[in-house]
Amino acid sequence: MPVKQLFPTSIYTSSLTSREKSNLNKSLLRETRKIQEIDIEGNKWSAKNYLGGYTSYGSLDHLHKMSPTFADLERILDVHVKKYVKALGLELKRGKIKMDSCWVNVMKPMVHHSLHIHPLSVISGTYYLKVPKKSAGIKFEDPRMVCFMASPKRKNKLHFELMPKEGQFVLFESWLRHEVPANSGTQDRISISFNYNWE
Ligand SMILES: [Fe+2]
Repeated sequence: MPVKQLFPTSIYTSSLTSREKSNLNKSLLRETRKIQEIDIEGNKWSAKNYLGGYTSYGSLDHLHKMSPTFADLERILDVHVKKYVKALGLELKRGKIKMDSCWVNVMKPMVHHSLHIHPLSVISGTYYLKVPKKSAGIKFEDPRMVCFMASPKRKNKLHFELMPKEGQFVLFESWLRHEVPANSGTQDRISISFNYNWE
């Protein structure tokens, strides 16, 4: 068929190996719960900006610099980010892509996270620690959506919802709009998010 696909949008998904997962997950979970318990500023921030849930985004967003466990996760992710950058064809010249921020998210039942991008970063992503039954995935929006004017409805979906498993992570370009629909399960959905910048 004389049709070409132009400007595809790529995301990257992979998992920690079972060894990496068994080394890290228990500690990551324990530390996340501890952070949630002691982070007074973050709990206040979340009450205003992350209704019903807890995130350390507004308070402790350099966890890879604060905890050796999170630094271990960073080292694992670095390898995958490098591969993703290569696949995207990003020309870094003398610069490097480095993890700039890393924070935890606890989505209680019925908590959602509305459409957003991660401004000023290059690569963003999330590592999934707890994805209970009926909790939501991560939903990406077709970046062409703002350009559609008089075009008819199309068969291809304009959203893609990735349903992650525990131990899996996703990387995407920071400009790609995404959301997390409401957690309709009965348990907390727990994840670690991060941004990589070009330095
Ligand atoms: Fe996000």
